[in-house]
Amino acid sequence: MTDATAKLRIADKDHELSTVPSTIGDVGLDIGALRSDTGFVTFDPGYANTASTESNITYIDGGNGTLWHRGYKIEDLAENCGFLEVAYLLLFGELPDQDALDAWRAKVRQHTLLNEELKRFFDAFPRSAHPMAILSSATNAISTFYEAYYNPKDPDAVRESATRLIAKMPTVAAWAYKKSIGQPYIYPRNDLSYVENFLHMMFALPVEDSPVDKVVAQALNVLLILHADHGQNCSTATVRFVGSSQANLFASVAAGMNALWGPLHGGANQEVVEMLHAIHVDPDMTVEKAVSRAKDKNDPYRLMGFGHRIYRNYDPRAKILKRFADDVLGTVSRDDPLLEIANHLEKVALEDDYFVSRKLYPNVDFYSGLIFRALGFPTRMFTVLFAIGRLPGWIANWMEMHEHGDNKIARPRQIYTGEALRDFVPIAER
Ligand code: ACO
Repeated sequence: MTDATAKLRIADKDHELSTVPSTIGDVGLDIGALRSDTGFVTFDPGYANTASTESNITYIDGGNGTLWHRGYKIEDLAENCGFLEVAYLLLFGELPDQDALDAWRAKVRQHTLLNEELKRFFDAFPRSAHPMAILSSATNAISTFYEAYYNPKDPDAVRESATRLIAKMPTVAAWAYKKSIGQPYIYPRNDLSYVENFLHMMFALPVEDSPVDKVVAQALNVLLILHADHGQNCSTATVRFVGSSQANLFASVAAGMNALWGPLHGGANQEVVEMLHAIHVDPDMTVEKAVSRAKDKNDPYRLMGFGHRIYRNYDPRAKILKRFADDVLGTVSRDDPLLEIANHLEKVALEDDYFVSRKLYPNVDFYSGLIFRALGFPTRMFTVLFAIGRLPGWIANWMEMHEHGDNKIARPRQIYTGEALRDFVPIAER
């Protein structure tokens, strides 16, 4: 839709608002001059109805459960691509040909090592540290070695920083895990693929040969692709927000990681498995009780992995993962009683009017945790895996913001509801 205009009537006066067209999907109302023209600002808590940017990276149709990256369906990308291929698509706008892909893989491979001095940084955390805290701290710490690459307006420096982040994140994640179990850090092996190398650093030991399981690597490849980008979600919006102050890419991405960690966002994958586990082990807890607690407005309990701000239909990533969960669990020969509980919980919830009327469906986190678990990852690493997957999306959005010349610092207004002006009271009279 193009060229439409809208009129807003405030106190008998019409104000014309121009529209911001889209290729497909939501069209924007440009309210940029609203405050200066009318004295009003818009009020939209949680930005549920606000487009903060134009973007040509990812399209989501929440009503139909559709997700495209750069015009390609997520289903096609998950079935046919490697994770680095999708990362290339997100970052540079097109799928690479074979030469470009080989060159990109080689470039990433060059940067997988961490500076040796960073090892001491890992040593300083307690064994019990949550790996998401280590991941975001290490991302900031890595930036201290690359201060010459901070300038967001220097495309070569940005490209180099982007490559470094994507290359080093599996090393950081694996070392955070090794730290937590008291095993020696395993160095990257550049003869392996991106995903294989990560699995090697996670699970190998220096004392024995431990070849990477190809089935596990293929499954993890798909999972990372399914997490690669998702429009202006909480963590991506955070990355853009922080980047809008012209903070460097490392600092912006570290902030996005912290946003992702929350249980209502990427932290939900850990919460889902803990919820299913509680149903499994607690004799007083059943699927039916969980659903009933989730519906009780006086109980903060929610069905983790259910509901989504954008999807009012089955999340297409969850659809792929539901099928995949059966395949993966079958292939790696691991029966998981939690999968049966998950299937039962989904069935009960999707037949319940509370969930049906609110259009609450399983989201990507509902089945991903079960697959991560089947692949041998500990629960506390799940959100870290999400972060490795989402990294290209964060970076692509940050780059797009700077490339498109979105030079405005992000700075929302507020509706002040505090005290009106009052006289200062000296401390002795309070
Ligand atoms: N369990 C029970 N009720 C729910 C759930 C849930 N998981 N999700 C939403 N609702 C209810 C709300 O209570 C609300 O009910 P009401 O209209 O009677 O007040 C209604 O559905 C709408 O929910 P909101 O919280 O307004 O929806 P919003 O779009 O703001 O939140 C969110 C989306 C945060 C994902 C929410 O559905 C939720 O908390 N889900 C559980 C956590 C989760 O799975 N997060 C991962 C999301 S995907 C991702 O980030 C990768």
